Amino acid sequence: MTIWNLGSINADFVYSVPHIPVPGETLASTGRAVFLGGKGANMSVAAARAAARVAHIGAVGADGLWAVERLMEYGVDTRHIAEIDVETAQAIIAVDANGENSIILHQGANVQIPVNVLEQALNRAETGDTLVFQNETNLQLQAAELAVTMGLRVAYAAAPFDADAVMAVMAHLDFLILNEVEAEQLKDATGKGPQDIPVKDVIVTLGANGATWFGADGPVDVPAHKVTPVDTTGAGDTFTGYVLACLDRGQPMLQAMQTASKAAAIMVTRRGTADVIPDLADVQSFSG
Ligand code: ADP
Ligand code: NA
Repeated sequence: MTIWNLGSINADFVYSVPHIPVPGETLASTGRAVFLGGKGANMSVAAARAAARVAHIGAVGADGLWAVERLMEYGVDTRHIAEIDVETAQAIIAVDANGENSIILHQGANVQIPVNVLEQALNRAETGDTLVFQNETNLQLQAAELAVTMGLRVAYAAAPFDADAVMAVMAHLDFLILNEVEAEQLKDATGKGPQDIPVKDVIVTLGANGATWFGADGPVDVPAHKVTPVDTTGAGDTFTGYVLACLDRGQPMLQAMQTASKAAAIMVTRRGTADVIPDLADVQSFSG
């Protein structure tokens, strides 16, 4: 089966700075690195590294062709990533000596994905495939509606969190994944806890405390592995990509989450994001 990921593709520009600039200040950076980022790209890479067939649906500008190349090198089908006349999404990240950061996000092409790109992609989908999306692109509701009519499994990773965005697609979802903070925000907005949400499978990730699956048989906890974290960015995206990949090849949820928990544990021991997501061989030899 195929995982269709309507997702963001960012160029992450990371600048090392002596301190986070204050209003009116001009500050020279002491270093710069450019990475592939965006929750969408991260999840595509994670699912591909977990050995799933993944087709990314998205858009970049002419300045983002390297990012598409990179996704392809990681095993993602990039034929449904449009090159459009809008700049590629950027995250301008300043990191100070203490590891504190500040981020400017420019959404660019991520929020101007042409609807015909989505339609052409999902026209190739087959019953039993999975659609996943996050809250970093346009077309979320259109994608969910189209996917339902085609018999796809519909999965939403509700980040960055927005209660209205969740409510808009809720009725179409088979699977919803949130972190602890997002689950709390959803409860504040709707009065509903994860066990009360009308979605078949809901997962709440709890960082170093693991993850809980709220399915038909009540909550099931999957512990995290004990590791020494050096960089937790991308842990959630890795977890989600792995769960979807394992489900796609027919594994039960519990087993999918156990594999994902290993992948995410490895991820927090590595500095970086998409470029360092572990592959299935790393995960299978992990004994944490
Ligand atoms: P997000 O990155 O979306 O906030 P979480 O922080 O909840 O997501 O992490 C997602 C998953 O990654 C967790 O369910 C857990 O399996 C794993 N994980 C996160 N932080 C750690 C950690 N410090 N040690 C081990 N595993 C972790
Ligand atoms: Na994270």
